Amino acid sequence: MPAGGDIPHRTRAVLLDSRPDGPPTAANFRVTEVPVAVPEPGHVLVRTGHLGVAAVMRERMDAGGNLPLPPFALGEPPVGPAVGTVVASGDDAVPVGAQVSYWGPWAGYADLAADDVQVLDPALLPAPEYHLATPNGSTALYGVRDIARVGPGDVVLVSGAAGGVGSLAGQIARRLGADRVIGTAGSADKCRLLTTDLGFDAAVNHRDDDLAGNLRAAAPDGISVYLDLVGGVQFEAAVAVAAPFARVAVGGALATQQSGAAWPRLDTGSAIMKGLTIRGFALAHALHVTAEWPALFAGWLGEGMVFPHTVVEGDVDDVPQALADLLAGRHHGHVSVALRE
Ligand SMILES: NC(=O)c1ccc[n+]([C@@H]2O[C@H](COP(=O)([O-])OP(=O)(O)OC[C@H]3O[C@@H](n4cnc5c(N)ncnc54)[C@H](OP(=O)(O)O)[C@@H]3O)[C@@H](O)[C@H]2O)c1
Repeated sequence: MPAGGDIPHRTRAVLLDSRPDGPPTAANFRVTEVPVAVPEPGHVLVRTGHLGVAAVMRERMDAGGNLPLPPFALGEPPVGPAVGTVVASGDDAVPVGAQVSYWGPWAGYADLAADDVQVLDPALLPAPEYHLATPNGSTALYGVRDIARVGPGDVVLVSGAAGGVGSLAGQIARRLGADRVIGTAGSADKCRLLTTDLGFDAAVNHRDDDLAGNLRAAAPDGISVYLDLVGGVQFEAAVAVAAPFARVAVGGALATQQSGAAWPRLDTGSAIMKGLTIRGFALAHALHVTAEWPALFAGWLGEGMVFPHTVVEGDVDDVPQALADLLAGRHHGHVSVALRE
């Protein structure tokens, strides 16, 4: 019999009921009650605390796709980064009361193999939601440091810069010595956030006319690094303003994911004449970076790094709307739902 106190017999869960065509709506989900069981030996039962939502979840709701992650199954809860508290344990290494991070279902409780949870040091980061930033932060670190190899002298452009990955990527580029950091975002408010709170030198609203002209004004000598989280017309504009021998690290495709925009066209004439390096990257190819992230993040937060994030207080039923709001650009930075106890 595992260690633990009282556990409920049932918990609420949100199931993917149909695959969205365009932005996800409430009609794509079904809220239901599912049984909660005492965990088997080697398993733990975790009460969900925070569930993170991210743009990639919309793609995982499609049947096909070329992600290095499987699609979410119909009739099952979507899963994402989660932080919770162990309430019953069949493994001494993960005791009752431990705060853990894991890939968790959109449900009030999760039965997990003990090997699939990481026991957190609550003193390392200021609050549980900071632990949810590990996938976004690790992606930003991998793209900026290991793929683009940003350093002194670089003029760095980050697209999707007010989002979960981009808001950290720009700040990492600064800490790695970039001379100038420029971001794109979709509103004047978000552009202000970049330059006033996050230390970007300039911000360009990608919804304004003449994107390439505005980028050129922000980087008169061209950009030497482009971290592409958006694709679409922003990729094409970045290639147009790239300096000779610029490095382009391609990590996301928000324009295609969110609005079904065509994949960007590559002006191969510019790529040849400028000697561009264009390299795609996926965190799935470098999972070791996720082990580095929490301590680096803690150090950088101590030195003034900002973690823009939105915490929605609610129930598990509120997670689909939190994702829809993220996809529609209604939030800044990282987004999570803190479940009421
Ligand atoms: N390569 C990897 O291993 C890896 C890992 C994690 C994430 N990713 C990818 O990185 C990208 C960023 O992820 P994230 O979680 O940080 O997303 P995010 O920025 O939090 O995504 C939401 C944002 O998308 C922007 N957006 C919405 N529609 C858009 C459009 N038509 N064109 C341009 N931007 C639009 C909005 O920002 P604005 O209002 O500012 O436009 C919105 O706030 C995604 O493509 C994600 O799949 C890749």
